[in-house]
Amino acid sequence: MPTLSLPKSGKTKADILTSMRHARDKDAQWQNGKVFGLVYHISEEIDDLLKEAYTMFFSENGLNPTAFPSLSKFENEIIAMASNLLGGDDKVAGTMTSGGTESLLMAVKTARDYARAKRGITNPEIILPSTAHPALDKAGEYFNVRMIHIPVRDDFRADVEATRRAITPNTIMLVGSAPSYPHGVVDPIRELAALAQEHGLLFHTDACVGGFMLPFVRKLGYPVPDFDFNVPGVTSISADLHKYAYAAKPASLVLYRTSELRRHQMFVSTDWPGGIYPSAGMAGSRPGGPVAAAWALLNYLGEDGYLEITDIVMRTAKIFQDGINAIPGLKVLSNPEMSVFAIASDSMDVYELADELALRGWHLDRQIFPPSLHVTVNYVHAQAGAEFLTDLANAAERVSRPGLRKTATKFLVKAANLLTRVLPEETVSNLMNKASSLLGGGSGLPSRMAPMYGLIGSLPNRGDLKELVLDLLDNINTYKE
Ligand SMILES: Cc1ncc(COP(=O)(O)O)c(C=O)c1O
Repeated sequence: MPTLSLPKSGKTKADILTSMRHARDKDAQWQNGKVFGLVYHISEEIDDLLKEAYTMFFSENGLNPTAFPSLSKFENEIIAMASNLLGGDDKVAGTMTSGGTESLLMAVKTARDYARAKRGITNPEIILPSTAHPALDKAGEYFNVRMIHIPVRDDFRADVEATRRAITPNTIMLVGSAPSYPHGVVDPIRELAALAQEHGLLFHTDACVGGFMLPFVRKLGYPVPDFDFNVPGVTSISADLHKYAYAAKPASLVLYRTSELRRHQMFVSTDWPGGIYPSAGMAGSRPGGPVAAAWALLNYLGEDGYLEITDIVMRTAKIFQDGINAIPGLKVLSNPEMSVFAIASDSMDVYELADELALRGWHLDRQIFPPSLHVTVNYVHAQAGAEFLTDLANAAERVSRPGLRKTATKFLVKAANLLTRVLPEETVSNLMNKASSLLGGGSGLPSRMAPMYGLIGSLPNRGDLKELVLDLLDNINTYKE
């Protein structure tokens, strides 16, 4: 691997900023709504507020709340407002984190330590629907908690009876999503939480996506199933500020029904020569900017602002969904409660569709089980509906036509499938390594990904797939001249 030394002498600010602007040229154009899920944006005016609040606290460090009581005040007020929004009372305690992933990591670690302290459980298990976010599996790997996945029902919601059957003496917590990322549906939280209570278990609602949207969706009169602290048995909730609260990244919350539960999240070192060292979350030093920006925005928009935004987002999502369902061969999977959903097809290859859309500048995540394309409509998409639907209809029409490339893709996938069944495991792994550099073209992800997704779907061994993805990650995270 080539190395890179520091420039001998520093460059000018103008040169540096110019080359950074240049580096952005190939980035996705989120400003016109062509990206789904990665960026939540309201307006330039709101961005100005977020940036001003963020930079006002650019240097402050949330590691030591006694040095920066301002950050502590902001964080506590954000948690109190979120708790109020999510049916909590004055006993609810929480922590601001760097995102949904850290919130889920903390919820799992807390459940593990609580169960160890209260029930002496040393081989903990958590039961979750197959659609729950993989950050929970990451938490399982990090904290040595076994994750038991339960296939979802035909409507993509958690299966309560199958969950009941999976409970063992080692079960410490059940999980449901509000809504799930892949299909945007809210799990039957009331039933799952009752089941948890019946067995003396904790229950976590992952409302990373819906925490700052569903309460407003309900206030606007749409049907929203119960999912928050109003439900008896819900003991913790994750809710992302950097998603539908439109705050600056990275910002999320993990909330617990009581501060007693939250104590199991905290880390305290009392024997370090450097002094007593307490820390609430994963990070040591914590940036003040995201806390300040979130506090500023919640106060700037208020309930009326969020209601107005949610109203527009729900109307926009309906335009998208109706338009998708009207295109021959395409449909919205499931019956989503808010503005997150998936596009599927019984007649065409949705990965080819994603490639065609990518050529038109649209970035949609490709999903598996079943194959579908993910859409997260937020405020930034309010102006993008007509263009998206026109491009989608054209892309669908193109994909429906027979073509040489598609035949080649199908042939490649079939051949790979056959080969992986007859060759020894080691040879398959070597082949996959080769395939990853071929498909990735040596410089990250390929522009047309349908062959890769076809190949992935046909792999008999998920271990090979993991190796393939690790190769790709390795490649992306490597310096190139
Ligand atoms: C339901 C759900 N939970 C957790 C996360 C993880 O959030 P983050 O990417 O902020 O770590 C996501 C991200 O999309 C999500 O959809």
